[in-house]
Amino acid sequence: MKNSLGTEEAIKLWDQNAEIITANYSEQGDLHREVLLNPTLFKLVENVKQKNILDAGCGEGYLSRIFAKSGASVVAVDFSKNMLDIARKKTPKELNIKYHYGNCEKLEFLDDESFDIIVSNMVIQDLENYKAAIKEMYRLLKSGGSFVFSILHPCFVTPDSGWEKSEDGEKLYWKVDKYFYEGVYEQAYPQGQTDKVLFFHRTLTSYFNAITEAGFILEGLVEPKPSSEMLEKYPSFEEDFRCSDFIVFKLRK
Ligand SMILES: C[S@@+](CC[C@H](N)C(=O)[O-])C[C@H]1O[C@@H](n2cnc3c(N)ncnc32)[C@H](O)[C@@H]1O
Repeated sequence: MKNSLGTEEAIKLWDQNAEIITANYSEQGDLHREVLLNPTLFKLVENVKQKNILDAGCGEGYLSRIFAKSGASVVAVDFSKNMLDIARKKTPKELNIKYHYGNCEKLEFLDDESFDIIVSNMVIQDLENYKAAIKEMYRLLKSGGSFVFSILHPCFVTPDSGWEKSEDGEKLYWKVDKYFYEGVYEQAYPQGQTDKVLFFHRTLTSYFNAITEAGFILEGLVEPKPSSEMLEKYPSFEEDFRCSDFIVFKLRK
């Protein structure tokens, strides 16, 4: 693994792959978002009406649009210009969303304590300096506000993890390796594509320490599983009862 790769290289790949990554997004995002992440995020975020929300690492903006349609005033930030172009094109003018180009590790153009809620969906594991980003979210949040973020589950999705399969392709078990390695690694994304992005792996302990060192209180933790309604719609998600792809944190300032 090349530990020298950082933000610049990571953003180049998000820019390069923006179209292909978002090609299959519906109004609910991709299937993993629809089945696993959205139900968890919406439950943890609660009521967004008339709230100021920051969507940190908004990508093509589906979450911003859902919150804006529910009556929130949304600021959406991403460090990929191509992602922002797609987001702007998909956003009807009447929605209350302001898109900004910026690095979540340092959002100096946004004022202290200006948000009631911050959401960051599947972004923190993409950041070279996740500690700076978590501190930045603390600065931007009003006192008493909540920061909800999802990441790849660091205990299961590691630089060397994946299904071990039998000769005829049956998924035998999920293999995990290199858990205590901390740093950058390349990963084909979306699954099954040859194009790669950069992820930054850290242990669960490191995430917990970064959260508490920033000053947050950890209020909720969810490892999303598919509901029976979602399983009926998408039976292949049955395998998500075998191990968890994601973990979602709810923090309070
Ligand atoms: C997996 S996508 C998630 C996008 C969106 N939140 C979603 O759920 O569809 C990760 C996003 O993080 C953005 N990103 C990566 N590094 C960033 C950084 N340092 N600052 C802001 N955005 C960043 C990428 O450009 C990409 O749009």
